[in-house]
Amino acid sequence: DHQQLPQEKGLDHTLDLLKEGYYFIMNRSNKFDSRIFETRLLGEKAICLVGEQEAKLFYDNEKFQRKNAAPGRIQKTLFGKGGVQGLDNLDHRYRKAMFMSLMTADKLEEIRQFIREEWKNHLFDAQNDVNVYEAAKYVLTRVALRWTGVPFQKEEADQWVDEFSDLFEHAADVGPKHWKARRSRQKAEEWLEDLVQQVRKETINVDQNRALYQFSLHKDPNGELLKLNIVAVELLNLLRPIVAIAIYIDFALLAMYDYPAEAERIREGNGREFIQEVRRFYPFFPFTAARVKQDFTWNNYEFKKGTLTLLDLYGTNHDPVIWEDPNRFKSERFQNWQGNPFSFIPQGGGEFDIGHRCAGEWITIDILHETVDFFSKEISFDFPEQDFDYSMNDIPALPQSNIIITNIQIIQ
Ligand code: HEM
Repeated sequence: DHQQLPQEKGLDHTLDLLKEGYYFIMNRSNKFDSRIFETRLLGEKAICLVGEQEAKLFYDNEKFQRKNAAPGRIQKTLFGKGGVQGLDNLDHRYRKAMFMSLMTADKLEEIRQFIREEWKNHLFDAQNDVNVYEAAKYVLTRVALRWTGVPFQKEEADQWVDEFSDLFEHAADVGPKHWKARRSRQKAEEWLEDLVQQVRKETINVDQNRALYQFSLHKDPNGELLKLNIVAVELLNLLRPIVAIAIYIDFALLAMYDYPAEAERIREGNGREFIQEVRRFYPFFPFTAARVKQDFTWNNYEFKKGTLTLLDLYGTNHDPVIWEDPNRFKSERFQNWQGNPFSFIPQGGGEFDIGHRCAGEWITIDILHETVDFFSKEISFDFPEQDFDYSMNDIPALPQSNIIITNIQIIQ
């Protein structure tokens, strides 16, 4: 006998999702006292999951697939069409391997070096107050372009900061901001398509070890080059999220302000634990989405083929069953942490190669670690009075002030 899923009444709860933001799934999970329930979003039935066992279920490739899981409006801004996020099976494995082949120890070492150089160039001669979020986006845009091997003039980097940012800052917006994000995507894709064409025709010379060249010449499972537009979408799947690390950098600075004893721990060499706690504690990606691949039963609940299913990433990182005192910022919790693919999932869970876990998780960790070390050990600064609040119903959330620092001095 099947058990009935706890079911939220009402025709559609998309507006509640916008109102409750990162708490949407947790609120209902608490109300139903259940880690799984059913609601209606964007005009269809949706199953919501939160927790470690539930994450394990969600990342079972036999049970879920990604085809048509992301809403169209998110594809037109955040992800682009035809990218790795929406692929399954062999197509996914080939495409994911194209990303993962860039994530070698050498390449990670190199990006750490780039980030350090760019922070130095940007902050060592800062005269006035610095808006950390804006500074981070600028620094990360330059790092991203250098690391992927996309040629650029200085002024171009300045310009692409805004286009890349539009893609993640306005992905959940409606109205004019949504349209601005769509235009930015179009513009960025056209620019990259043109570059890919030049690489293929050998009319420009680019570093063969970098993403622009590698992606331009990558072959799909049929042995064919990818369509120009797909290469552009996948290059943006590197450029956009590298720039989006600015959001975590802003929260890392907020944590340094709010928890001075924690900031001290960075100076003592615990930067990695600190940034892991930043990734657990602060909101970024609320949830990820898939569809039921074929009918199955789990814990007596029936899952019907095609049903949209959301896994709560934020909620799982704050699950009191997994995390002691989940709403306390405490980096020491990562001191003896053994790693677990399903309980700590700010950038998705499961496996990298055969699953949809974030291809850029190691880069994100390295960039954050390098950045908090830089801000703790290479410079000193003050936080002027400002509005540090952030709102849990803005996606993505960000401190109101963007975090301003002043009196920047180089530590000799
Ligand atoms: C996928 C978060 C940075 C590239 C994902 C997913 C999440 C995520 C939640 C989806 C996981 C799933 O659906 O199961 C983040 C966050 C980041 C970040 C919060 C911090 C800024 C990066 C970076 C890169 C990157 C720096 C590239 C250098 C990707 C790619 C995928 C992905 C290519 C698709 C993987 C697949 O479908 O197999 N990310 N990410 N991300 N991320 Fe990230």
